[in-house]
Amino acid sequence: MIYYIIRSILFKLDPELTHKFIIKKLSIIGGTPLEKLFQQRLISRPIKCMGLIFKNSLGLAAGLDKNAECIDFFGAMGFGFIEVGTVTPVAQIGNKKPRLFHLIESEGIINRMGFNNLGVDNLVHNVKKSKFKGVIGINIGKNEKTDIEQSKDDYLICIKKVYSYADYIAINISSPNTPLLRSLQYGEILDDLLNSVKNQQKELAKSNLKYVPIVIKISPDLSEEEIIKIADSLLRYKIDGVIATNTSINRSLVNKLKHAEELGGLSGRPLQLISNKVIQSLVKELKGRIPIIGVGGIDSLIAAREKIAIGASLIQIYSGLIYKGPNLIRNIINYI
Ligand SMILES: Cc1cc2nc3c(=O)[nH]c(=O)nc-3n(C[C@H](O)[C@H](O)[C@H](O)COP(=O)(O)O)c2cc1C
Repeated sequence: MIYYIIRSILFKLDPELTHKFIIKKLSIIGGTPLEKLFQQRLISRPIKCMGLIFKNSLGLAAGLDKNAECIDFFGAMGFGFIEVGTVTPVAQIGNKKPRLFHLIESEGIINRMGFNNLGVDNLVHNVKKSKFKGVIGINIGKNEKTDIEQSKDDYLICIKKVYSYADYIAINISSPNTPLLRSLQYGEILDDLLNSVKNQQKELAKSNLKYVPIVIKISPDLSEEEIIKIADSLLRYKIDGVIATNTSINRSLVNKLKHAEELGGLSGRPLQLISNKVIQSLVKELKGRIPIIGVGGIDSLIAAREKIAIGASLIQIYSGLIYKGPNLIRNIINYI
């Protein structure tokens, strides 16, 4: 109830300014005794996946804590894992504002942030400071200024820098807000990226005496044939996991709603069905050989259970947390 009152006030303000303000406040609270005020009583349900132990199956999706400023706070709220980023080799300001829109009637969000972040070195500095005992995923991307042909180098730079501090690394090739990024999901360019990433992982595992799983985050706007091809590449290169899905450019479920015509990626409830379809296609192709992290439109315990029922090993939320608040975390973790 209290959350809905706070939300109704916050939704009247500029979404990005509010986001920035809240992240700043949470980063101050995290790691201090005040954090206890936000701690939730949760049942422990450990899960083993990709060789890692997750204290429960619910994670925070990438993009909310892009610079890893609030890991301790989100950890205190109960998440089993927290994915920070997307981070790029050098800091960048992202797209022109406004670039974040709430579609309140459908509990959706459209964003075209464009990987605004403070760079990988700053993120590593913050991850090192965090006291969170759960799993930390670091989500990496390419700088906007890097040519698509050279984008592999950006991923390799980031992998090298985050390797020692990440429990897993997520390769984001599916944001709709960086020009041509999604073209990395297809054919030879995908195979070349996966091959290089895998070779680097092998070298770093040797020198660090630690194997860090690498997962690929894919788009919800792929056809069945495209998913079959991607699944085949993931299997051939022995990728450790796949995150399905990122945000969508499909507007069919939000047609005519306020802000629906804004460019960018749609998330939240209207994404639920679209992303579940992608998960189902992946399940058919992967046959349990690679775990799936299901994300997209989880706004209730039922929606969380559905993702697990169709074959996701782990799940993540972003928009649902904005619309439903911390109760959503508690409901999912305690009752899933
Ligand atoms: C404002 C905003 C920013 C996001 N930024 C990122 C990002 O930087 N990297 C990424 O991989 N996904 C990003 N996402 C996508 C989410 O991680 C998630 O895949 C998507 O929102 C679907 O989940 P949801 O329906 O629970 O929000 C972002 C989503 C939102 C709403």
